[in-house]
Amino acid sequence: MTEQKFTGGFSQLALGVCYYPEHWPEQDWAEDAAQMRALGLRYVRIGEFAWSRLEPQRNQFEFDWLDRAIATLAAENLKVVLCTPTATPPKWLIDEHPEILPGDPDSGHVRGFGSRRHYDFSSTTYREEAVRISAVLANRYGNDARIIGWQTDNELCCHDTAHSRSASARQAFQAWCQARYETIAHLNTAWGNVFWSMEYASFTAIELPFGTVTETNPAHQIAYRRFASDQILHFHNACCSAIEEHTQNQWITHNFIPMKDTQTDCFALAAPLDFVSYDSYPLGRSEFLLGRDEPELARRYMRTGHPDYTAYYLDQCRGLKNRGFWIMEQQPGPVNWAPSNPRPAPGMVTLWSLEAIAHGADVVSFFRWRQAQFAQEQMHAGLLRPDRSHSDAWAEVEAVVRVIKALENEPLPKPWAQVALVTDVSAQWVSEIEQQGQRVEAPQVNFQFYRALRRLNVAVDIVSPSADLSHYALVIVASMPIVSAALLKACEQSDAIVLFGPRCGAKTEEFQIPPNRAPGVLQSWLDLQVNSVETLSPDVSEPFECKGEIFQIRLWCEDLSVATATIDCGGGASCPDTNTCCRNGEGGFSCCPVKEATCCGD
Ligand code: GAL
Repeated sequence: MTEQKFTGGFSQLALGVCYYPEHWPEQDWAEDAAQMRALGLRYVRIGEFAWSRLEPQRNQFEFDWLDRAIATLAAENLKVVLCTPTATPPKWLIDEHPEILPGDPDSGHVRGFGSRRHYDFSSTTYREEAVRISAVLANRYGNDARIIGWQTDNELCCHDTAHSRSASARQAFQAWCQARYETIAHLNTAWGNVFWSMEYASFTAIELPFGTVTETNPAHQIAYRRFASDQILHFHNACCSAIEEHTQNQWITHNFIPMKDTQTDCFALAAPLDFVSYDSYPLGRSEFLLGRDEPELARRYMRTGHPDYTAYYLDQCRGLKNRGFWIMEQQPGPVNWAPSNPRPAPGMVTLWSLEAIAHGADVVSFFRWRQAQFAQEQMHAGLLRPDRSHSDAWAEVEAVVRVIKALENEPLPKPWAQVALVTDVSAQWVSEIEQQGQRVEAPQVNFQFYRALRRLNVAVDIVSPSADLSHYALVIVASMPIVSAALLKACEQSDAIVLFGPRCGAKTEEFQIPPNRAPGVLQSWLDLQVNSVETLSPDVSEPFECKGEIFQIRLWCEDLSVATATIDCGGGASCPDTNTCCRNGEGGFSCCPVKEATCCGD
């Protein structure tokens, strides 16, 4: 593994672009490269989906075109980021091994050839093939100084590809269960399979948790999600090792999508990488996140993207390794994949790029150089239009170049966040599997906290439960049903104020209610228990008084017993926890000996 090279100062800030030389006549390449350099770009990412051109038939490699493309870019002093093409297995490989294709979790149908990401993480054949092509490329270009580093695959898990309902997934899941639970009796107990006669007699009888009449056992579901996440890690770790084995002085990164869409432990996925990258499409994302439920907000932010979401994903990405990162793909204009695809407001491409830098990005690379003339993404903007004229983004990139130049001699600011927001994928899993209401999913709860902090102009680190929390002033565990021993210890060792949100400690590792009720293991630290939980319909809110202030309860409400504590009424007054604070006529408080009463005597 090489040392991370992007932590020095603003002088290392740079811009790049995603380029597909195989999409354009070779006589255009030199002019493309010259224009990239003239624009002020330093990095060019290539090769991402080019397997059918690199290996048109098994073991018949055609590198000449790639060599010439690299030479053309290098002649303009551009550094190349070379991708492994594993997101697009070519047709000959699928025909040879149709079992590579994944199964659609909902329908069970095989997901066919003809787009991308058509592979099953549980296919051992595909893992071997992905390792093979990665090794072949790394062997050839691993010592080539024109190649600065590598991008693995493309947006792992995008297009809902984390899960598969295939024969190989089922077999691998059975083996995973056997390794985790050792005996089938242990598995049956851990999952509570006696409920609804779901007990299994052997590991080979275990089904995938799809296609049932009503909900499948949540323990079964979370086991499957853990398994699927592990499969993705195995696949990716194997590809990284194959590259590492043959390379020197080149780094490895991967272009992440938002954590929620991966269904995977992204902190673990980032572990073998030198740094992480993120693909930032603020307008497309806002459309997806707000379009259906919050049409008014969607309209307001139609051309800018919702600012809290853009910042949230940048901080989320930085948190994966808590260090500098790249924007590998930056939206340059309208995209082609959201429900509607507006043009960004003038200035937004510049603003998004500088915002990414302000949140810790070292490099911003635009997707893509030239708008595609054929195939799936013809309606997606690039820096150039298909006829090579400049798109609206061109001048905006020039503006970014000017700012970066002006910053050149400035030192990098020191890490600044005093607030940590702790997150992990298991919280998302629990809240998706057992919803108990609408829209109370852990990522949404995280985001609401983040949004409130951002309104207060507070910088936030988004960290994993095993992060060191000692240097923060405030730690927010927004929603974490399964609390790990590491998190408990880190909280105990930190002097920070630690704030726990809904569902914290509410489940055991095997998705059961803890024997001592929620908040489970947190009771070693917090002297309280959850008595009951209710959820409210999204159009209902009820008032709740705390410290003399009225708040509105919405969606999720936990009724707590606090063993020894008192309630702080505000103004220096307090009451036993079993009471309610009531304002008295003299501007102070008196205690009403009935819990959650509307104040008696009012
Ligand atoms: C990304 C992907 C690119 C391209 C782009 C279009 O998700 O990595 O290959 O499809 O979206 O916006």
